[in-house]
Amino acid sequence: MNIRTIHELKNIRGKRVLLTVDFNISLHNGNITNDTRIVEALPTINYLRKEGAKIILISHLGRPRGYDKKFSLRPVAERLRKLTKIKVNLIDDFWEGKAINIINKIPEDELILLENIRFYKGEEDNDKIFSKHLAKMADFFVNDAFGTSHRVHSSIVGIADYLPSFAGMLMAKEIQVLSDALNKPARPFLVLIGGAKTPEKIAVIERILDIADTIALGGAISNTFLAAWGFGTGKSLVDYEMVEMARVVFWKAAKKHCALILPQDLVISDRERSKMPSVIEYNKIPNNVAIYDIGPKTQKYYCKLINEAKTIIWNGPMGFYEDPLYKKGTDAVLKCLSNSNAYSILGGGDTITSIKERRYLEKISHISTGGSAMLSFLEKGTLPGIDVLIKN
Ligand code: ADP
Ligand code: 3PG
Ligand code: MG
Repeated sequence: MNIRTIHELKNIRGKRVLLTVDFNISLHNGNITNDTRIVEALPTINYLRKEGAKIILISHLGRPRGYDKKFSLRPVAERLRKLTKIKVNLIDDFWEGKAINIINKIPEDELILLENIRFYKGEEDNDKIFSKHLAKMADFFVNDAFGTSHRVHSSIVGIADYLPSFAGMLMAKEIQVLSDALNKPARPFLVLIGGAKTPEKIAVIERILDIADTIALGGAISNTFLAAWGFGTGKSLVDYEMVEMARVVFWKAAKKHCALILPQDLVISDRERSKMPSVIEYNKIPNNVAIYDIGPKTQKYYCKLINEAKTIIWNGPMGFYEDPLYKKGTDAVLKCLSNSNAYSILGGGDTITSIKERRYLEKISHISTGGSAMLSFLEKGTLPGIDVLIKN
């Protein structure tokens, strides 16, 4: 993919850059639970600083409806200050003209972070006036927000109409790694998909059938595929509107000679999970129970697939991981993945949240900062935020 990157920028000392990043991290009681997305943006920040540019950072946090202090980027500004040891000026109300004066007066060696960009309606509307207002603040635009680049928003797509635009280092790395996996995967190429966002994931499965050797399913999405096959799924989470689509995917898998694998055994409980978990074969699910995890036979089989594979992409927990009783399948997959010699790529908000131990994460070849963005890239081979960075 031929995109403009920050390494093409020359003589930027004293120039102002709008740098969009994805600092949409998870907060628990106001504390950051995982700062991967901030850490991963540091190489670009450091590079632009070294080259002498004045950096104005843009990010969203959560999905606020209008101005809402609960979604303030203040904890992010604080963490960024700790990580960089540089003063971070959080600019509230940057819609006001006077904010531009304030920004202009901030010394070049300090960082500027605009308050949550989604406090402004113009952002999600990709509003032209809003984009122009942002563009007035800087001389050029850098997008390092891979995780948000599937959104057609002002700070991702709109600004590029008004400023020379470039990809940051994280963006370039994500594109490189994911394109390589799609275009020239070492084989066998295994894709593990779990989680609950069935409609968007089913589209990725359909696309990836063309290139993967094996797709193994877990999580709620495999319930929908079991239902499509005609097996009873009791009270399990099933996306009934996707059942027909799942049948099309089975048909296409057969045509493409891609093995589409479903769990052989499952961990069940009652709907409220008040009973202790028990293990059952895939074709014997009673009507009054729900599936919450993959069973031990499936774990073992998925582990075998992982050991045999040379390229692995994993997105989506294998079960209801928030309850430790149903986290065994997800943990088993992670453990095998961390012992494998394959090139491994992992992505997805919940998938990463489910991993508590850093020693496992360190063994994964590439941890994508994108959840839906990674899936959308795998499905379409590009993203709206990348399209505006492509060289003519
Ligand atoms: P990611 O963010 O990694 O892409 P998703 O958002 O698609 O993953 O899915 C994560 C959610 O899926 C978690 O909240 C998890 O509890 C849920 N989940 C996984 N398996 C099941 C299941 N069998 N029944 C109900 N929920 C499940
Ligand atoms: C993500 O967490 O997937 C990105 O930051 C995008 O967030 P969004 O789904 O609220 O647009
Ligand atoms: Mg999720």
